Amino acid sequence: MIPAHIYNDKELFALEKERLFSRAWTFVAHESEIPQEGDYVVRRVLDDSFIITRDSAGDVRAMFNMCLHRGMQVCRAEMGNASNFRCPYHGWTYRNDGRLTGLPFHRDAYGGDEGFAKNQTLLPAPKLSSYNGLLFISMDPGAEPLQDFLGDFKFYLDFYTKQSTGGLELRGPQRWRIKANWKIGAENFAGDMYHTPHTHASIVEIGLFREPKAQKRKDGATYWAHRGGGTTYKLPPGGFDERMRYVGYPDDMIGRIKKLWTPRQQQIVGEDGFMISAATCFPNLSFVHNWPKVHDRNGRNDGVLPFISIRLWQPISEHETEVCSWFAVDSAAPPQYKQDSYKAYLMCFGSTGMFEQDDVENWVSLTTTAGGSMARRLLLNSRMGLLLDDRPVVEALSAESFHGPGRAQVGYNENNQRELLKLWADYLQMPRPALTAAAPATGTAVTE
Ligand code: FES
Ligand SMILES: [Fe+2]
Repeated sequence: MIPAHIYNDKELFALEKERLFSRAWTFVAHESEIPQEGDYVVRRVLDDSFIITRDSAGDVRAMFNMCLHRGMQVCRAEMGNASNFRCPYHGWTYRNDGRLTGLPFHRDAYGGDEGFAKNQTLLPAPKLSSYNGLLFISMDPGAEPLQDFLGDFKFYLDFYTKQSTGGLELRGPQRWRIKANWKIGAENFAGDMYHTPHTHASIVEIGLFREPKAQKRKDGATYWAHRGGGTTYKLPPGGFDERMRYVGYPDDMIGRIKKLWTPRQQQIVGEDGFMISAATCFPNLSFVHNWPKVHDRNGRNDGVLPFISIRLWQPISEHETEVCSWFAVDSAAPPQYKQDSYKAYLMCFGSTGMFEQDDVENWVSLTTTAGGSMARRLLLNSRMGLLLDDRPVVEALSAESFHGPGRAQVGYNENNQRELLKLWADYLQMPRPALTAAAPATGTAVTE
């Protein structure tokens, strides 16, 4: 049972800032967003702004976007390409690797190199690491390695992010704010198969999507593995290739995927008959893989085509979230596929997406209601899939019927939402990591 006020509570939000986002690995960008030397994007982890650059030596860095002089935000553009960043306030200049290189009136104001040697850099993010091109920051210098943090969830991340050796390319993000708590989106993408037939009924009615009929959705499985979990759809009979074609992958993509996915990853599709759909990586990174109808023709796959979206639920306050929504596609995919897949994404998700509009109406309303005093007297029922004595309604799938790590089960349940909130509660009970103020040092960003 979940106290209803956790979806709109100022004190809890302060605790999330202090204990969760100060520690957990948080997604900030994908390496393909900064392919060339000098490319940068500016991203935030809650209130902290970072310049994510590929410096002139080709290394990826995350630098705290605060001038070493009086603290102005050094880079105010959202993305671009620059060899230097010049602070708008008094004009201190930094190389794209963070080194301070220029101060106006260096000799007159500071006594030249003798008075101020300029051997300083913008403060690096405490920790920066990547998996399949996904860049994560941790604000905790003592954070466990990203690979360990993700753990078995990496198995599932690969389905979205590793379809050729070149990896993903991204478009976006589209950014917008919703008056909803960040945890609701994270929970929804982690495991809410139950809302699809109801909330998104009109999408099935107009024929955009053939899958989310109530009967079909409940045949899918949900899985949870360490720091993340998600939903799947049950596929019709067939082998790996047939089933990949069923959701609309062209043969050349299937060929590349087969070379990269491990036998176990391929067994999920080819033997077990499940196709991954939405997922959440704790705390606030979600993925979606769907296959709506983008063509009217009734070809061998009914005109459906898959798309992948990566989304970040960036907390603004206890009742507001900035959604960052990227379209992601395999870099080696054929140009026509990329175009059609982008169209598929835009119809379903992003600021124009129909799924998006349906979902957010619920989330905003829920958040508003959770902010009142009555919500403090209510425990929400999050027990789906559990009997009164806590035994599961449906047993977990065996290792032979679901080849992925973690726990998986068929049918409607709220196991993943509970797992996500369990992790959340664990973090809220840990003390915040120690903060030490450091004088800007010479040297390079701390990366793994
Ligand atoms: S605050 Fe940046 S140069 Fe003064
Ligand atoms: Fe939805």
